[in-house]
Amino acid sequence: MKIGVISGDGIGPEVVAEAKKVLDKCSEKFGFEIEYTDIYMGGCSIDKFGVPLTDEAIEAAKSSDAVLMGSIGGNTTTSPWYRLPADKRPEAGLLKIRKALNLFANLRPSVLYDELKDACPLRKDIADKGFDLIIVRELTGGLYFGKRHTGEENGIVTAVDTLTYSEEEIRRAAIKAFEIAKKRRKKVTSVDKANVLDSSRLWRKVTEEVAKAYPDVMLEHMLVDNAAMQLVKDPAQFDVVFTENMFGDILSDEAAEITGSIGMLSSASLNDTKFGLYEPSGGSAPDIAGKNIANPIATILSAAMMLRFTFDMDEAAKSIEDAVSKVLKEGYRTVDIMSEGCREVKTSEMGSLIADRI
Ligand code: IPM
Ligand code: MN
Repeated sequence: MKIGVISGDGIGPEVVAEAKKVLDKCSEKFGFEIEYTDIYMGGCSIDKFGVPLTDEAIEAAKSSDAVLMGSIGGNTTTSPWYRLPADKRPEAGLLKIRKALNLFANLRPSVLYDELKDACPLRKDIADKGFDLIIVRELTGGLYFGKRHTGEENGIVTAVDTLTYSEEEIRRAAIKAFEIAKKRRKKVTSVDKANVLDSSRLWRKVTEEVAKAYPDVMLEHMLVDNAAMQLVKDPAQFDVVFTENMFGDILSDEAAEITGSIGMLSSASLNDTKFGLYEPSGGSAPDIAGKNIANPIATILSAAMMLRFTFDMDEAAKSIEDAVSKVLKEGYRTVDIMSEGCREVKTSEMGSLIADRI
């Protein structure tokens, strides 16, 4: 397995080290070999090369079977990286690699673990029902990749961003959403703003066309403002939530928060091949970087997603997921998910505990 490793900034290197620990244990148990290649992206790349992502880094990612990523970016008010022009900042590296590798489908599962129900910020009767949903976010189109500029019109400074979607961009992402739904509870909620936006009306039309090929998957449409509300009111109603880039960005943070800890959530960014970029849903958390207290579980579960999606190793992936559940059942917690009667452990301990249970 050729795995590119973007440790990145902030807590990235700490959590990636733990995911590697767990992957290495899997390689022993399940008999495969891993070759890791370090790839610079984000702030660490700016410091070393002056840009957030070099062409060499893109090439290194392209020649890997999959990329495991920690997180990128720093404190946006204090870090010198944010005094650079927007296209030279850490986040520009992430957007660039998504585009360069054509990673158009971003999968963000959001699951409420039984053991962590106390950390769920929702009302108890809602939390008690539990939820297990996955957001499929279109990742290389829409507002984040449209033409933008800031200029003066008649002496007034005006900024423009454009939201464009082609039917092809919608279709290939919709197919991913339906393929995933087929293997889950067979329901797709397509989220849009079709009462206002042309791009959303096309989104709805193309999604309906794709749905015809999946007669046993139920499709419903939901407006994004309502979806934001439903996520906190009744998250159990969702299975696969399919949506465009910016709506998915926003809703996936909301979906993460209601699980009690963003430190638990994995994600995968996929293209048309088996390649994938796997990263925790959370950010670089510069305030706790270097303290060995970050939760490595999201990154470890992202490594499990990698084994499942890129390498078709369901058994090894499941062994990681089971090990995580076991460690939680045994009462081990990092500080972000700590509750009474549990035992608080550091980042590195959590990684070792999980690896030991593979
Ligand atoms: C995410 C992040 C990125 C995004 C930023 C860092 C560009 O918020 O992965 O959700 O908006 O896609
Ligand atoms: Mn985001």
